[in-house]
Amino acid sequence: EMRPIVIQGAMDVETQFMIEKLTDVEEITIGGWRFFKGALEGRPVVVAKTEVGMTNAAASTVLAIERFNPSAIINQGTSGGHAPGLHRYDIVLGKTAVNFGNFRTEHGDAGKGVKPEKWLPMTITVNVKGEAKEFTDFKGDAHLLEVAEKTSAAYKHGKVVTGVIGSADQWNRELDRIAWIHATYNTSAEEMETASAAQVAEAYGVPFLGIRILSNSELHDEGFDPKAGIYCQEFVLDVVRRLKQ
Ligand code: 5AD
Repeated sequence: EMRPIVIQGAMDVETQFMIEKLTDVEEITIGGWRFFKGALEGRPVVVAKTEVGMTNAAASTVLAIERFNPSAIINQGTSGGHAPGLHRYDIVLGKTAVNFGNFRTEHGDAGKGVKPEKWLPMTITVNVKGEAKEFTDFKGDAHLLEVAEKTSAAYKHGKVVTGVIGSADQWNRELDRIAWIHATYNTSAEEMETASAAQVAEAYGVPFLGIRILSNSELHDEGFDPKAGIYCQEFVLDVVRRLKQ
């Protein structure tokens, strides 16, 4: 039997369009996480509704890998712009994904305050085939990235770039903080799941790619538009159609 591709999205605006495109859909619930197993033009696909945030994304990814043995995982959906050159509806293909909520601080005396811009990024330890490895970020799979880049020409709602997807349990709207995160991690956009799913995929050795559309950019005063969630799903299905399994 052909191994499926798992396509993850956190919210209905990031999953519903794809689920409606699948045939022979079987809905599977494991714990608090839902999976929609079906076919896209004969190719096995599982749409995973991860729910919002890093912990949900990690749990959903473990369950998806253990239950469905996917050949690849795509984490996709909406995001907020960090790079000044990017606007709402532009798409970021994740050359890397970084957890930008992973900090330590130096000692500070009582009464000296909280200074987020002084916080220091930490590495993440992942056991890969019995070996403890340190990661500053997680790489998108080269083949998936190449196929996604080739799909870009067909995208009509904005531009498609490769970049850094930043993930944390945060929604940042302070321009100085966004600028600090962008300067520290070179983030193209922020959201709340990709780096978490990427970390789990890395541990299992499953090829992974993050694909995120800007649904909002505080830098340009562009507010959240749910249509972006649809545009991203359309693009991702085009990528999946081009993949040879
Ligand atoms: N900051 C953080 N998360 C965002 N999302 C969309 N835009 C942003 C943003 N600017 C996504 C997250 C999460 C949901 C709240 O929306 O990935 O799933």
